[in-house]
Amino acid sequence: MVFVGFPTWGMQLPPPMKSFLRQYNLSGKTVVPFNTNGGYGIGSTFETVKELCPNSNVLEGFTMRGGSERDGQLLVIEGDKAKEAKTAVGKWLRTINVLK
Ligand SMILES: Cc1cc2nc3c(=O)[nH]c(=O)nc-3n(C[C@H](O)[C@H](O)[C@H](O)COP(=O)(O)O)c2cc1C
Repeated sequence: MVFVGFPTWGMQLPPPMKSFLRQYNLSGKTVVPFNTNGGYGIGSTFETVKELCPNSNVLEGFTMRGGSERDGQLLVIEGDKAKEAKTAVGKWLRTINVLK
């Protein structure tokens, strides 16, 4: 099982992640994508993971709002946000049966 995490850039999977997924053969693996975004749309981000891992079992991805470079908010994983993220991630992991 391979967890792959990435931000969204320009409504897309960032180019370094596209290169990574093209370069490594994850055939036969379960791929678990997770994402942060700036709150203005994830576009094709998750679809591209599926396209680039055609022979993998790509589970339902997780996304949540992270920093927002547009507003100069670069570190948000603190205080209430950290708790919110922990709860949301736990719920997601149970939904996809990674956590019982
Ligand atoms: C070049 C660039 C493009 C971005 N494009 C988007 C976008 O299309 N949609 C969006 O919601 N956020 C976009 N963002 C915001 C990032 O996704 C966000 O800042 C990042 O996921 C925050 O992650 P972190 O809090 O884990 O550092 C962009 C950020 C950069 C630097």
